[in-house]
Amino acid sequence: MSFIVIINNLLFLSLSVGAVCVLYTQGVGNREWREYGRTEVIDNTLNPDFVTKFILDYFFEERQNLRFDLRLERPLTGIPGKNCGTIIIKAEELGNCRESVLMQFCGNKLDKKDFFGKSDPFLVFYRSNEDGTFTICHKTEVVKNTLDPVWQAFKIPVRALCNGDYDREIKIEVYDWDRDGGHDYIGEFSTSYRELSKGQSQFSVYEVRLSFSPCTVTLLSCLVDTEVSFLDYIKGGTQINFTVAIDFTASNGNPSQPTSLHYLSPYQQNAYSMALRAVGEIIQDYDSDKMFPALGFGAKLPPDGRVSHEFALNGNPDNPYCSGIEGVMEAYYQSLKSVRLYGPTYFSPVINHVARYASLVKDGSEYFILLIISDGVISDMAQTKESIVNASALPMSIIIVGVGPAEFDEMIELDGDEIRISSRGRFAERDIVQFVPFRDYIDRRGNHILSMARLAKDVLAEIPDQFLQYMRTRGIKPQCPPQSYSSKLPAAPLQTQI
Ligand SMILES: *[C@@H]1O[C@H](CO)[C@@H](O)[C@H](O)[C@H]1NC(C)=O
Ligand SMILES: *[C@@H]1O[C@H](CO)[C@@H](O)[C@H](O)[C@H]1NC(C)=O
Repeated sequence: MSFIVIINNLLFLSLSVGAVCVLYTQGVGNREWREYGRTEVIDNTLNPDFVTKFILDYFFEERQNLRFDLRLERPLTGIPGKNCGTIIIKAEELGNCRESVLMQFCGNKLDKKDFFGKSDPFLVFYRSNEDGTFTICHKTEVVKNTLDPVWQAFKIPVRALCNGDYDREIKIEVYDWDRDGGHDYIGEFSTSYRELSKGQSQFSVYEVRLSFSPCTVTLLSCLVDTEVSFLDYIKGGTQINFTVAIDFTASNGNPSQPTSLHYLSPYQQNAYSMALRAVGEIIQDYDSDKMFPALGFGAKLPPDGRVSHEFALNGNPDNPYCSGIEGVMEAYYQSLKSVRLYGPTYFSPVINHVARYASLVKDGSEYFILLIISDGVISDMAQTKESIVNASALPMSIIIVGVGPAEFDEMIELDGDEIRISSRGRFAERDIVQFVPFRDYIDRRGNHILSMARLAKDVLAEIPDQFLQYMRTRGIKPQCPPQSYSSKLPAAPLQTQI
């Protein structure tokens, strides 16, 4: 959120003083006050309106004390017993909007204000606050001695201009600069971000109101630059569909033997459980229903012993969902007891399985992440590559964790970090595979918590970019969060006597 400091009616005996406001925050542990930031110094006014805003992270679970000190360059001497003015502190939640806009304006036939010469015009931009008051958000440079100034293009975040509210009034005042600080008012006009952004395709001419003679300001260019994040989509309701696929091929070793990668020991989790838990526990926070489909591949299933390369770990093909990561673990342990490890190692059936669902929701409302945990050599490399090339056009990413001591050459190739993966001359539209070898994350001193956090971090590192690439190339914008989300904070200003 941002804090805007507005000071009204300071009673100065000397007019040549400068005012500055300093914000302090308090440490959580030691309660010590530390300077967080200070505004610019404003001279010669009884109502300094600071442009500087303090932007602080807001923590729901913490009590955050703030202290504002107002300082003057010369001591403020009020008349004893008289009110020396008020300081108004406003807190407003920042819009989660990461757009910025690059604009350039020029003036036409502005009023001549200077006795010698023409005018020295500059523009002051104000955004309107929720309570209808205005706050300065930008000042242009002064163009000397002209009635037809062309100001330099400037870039401003849309949240500074209108707090992300496209229809909120933006007021622009035109002034003639004066050396003594008493700038002459030429006139003003109002617009909104929505109106300004029309300037992307056409010139917009604004009549300057309240000016002595008719004059205009023209918006010469307007370029919108959007920077949306992964979280914008999640807040906007995009669901992450997280599917797990586990390798049940014989190369993992007999699960009843301690040498097996699937060995279940009462003392220590095996590599599959550890990787599953590490990645799953991070991802589950983005999946609101926390119901995860879990698949296995490369095993002979009961009762008839047929080999399957895509079976539901919970034994229910119509409803492969497991409840939470615990549910996935439980289904994995149950499967180990019922299926027979077999082979070969085929990846393409599970990739196609998820791709079938991903191809049904291409509107950005769902994004699919498939976690494949496997011990080694892939037997259907050509099909797997084709499946990945096909899936690269879908809202889908694939994470592969390699367990055991094997060389993971194929998996490294699938990762495509160096050479974009292709199949029969067709290249993947984007990189959707991230591979990590589990053994690189084993902490010899047994600090699994830290090492698994590192694994999850590395394995998930590329997902937000892969996700954003999909959304960007499809022109999908994040949905706006429900209105209540952005208007929970009180808009009423706090008033403090100083
Ligand atoms: C999530 O994906 C799986 C396939 O991996 C599918 O069975 C399931 O229906 C999907 N869930 C939703 C809500 O789309
Ligand atoms: C990839 O897509 C093509 C065209 O839709 C399809 O014919 C092919 O079977 C797919 N490949 C795999 C391995 O699923």
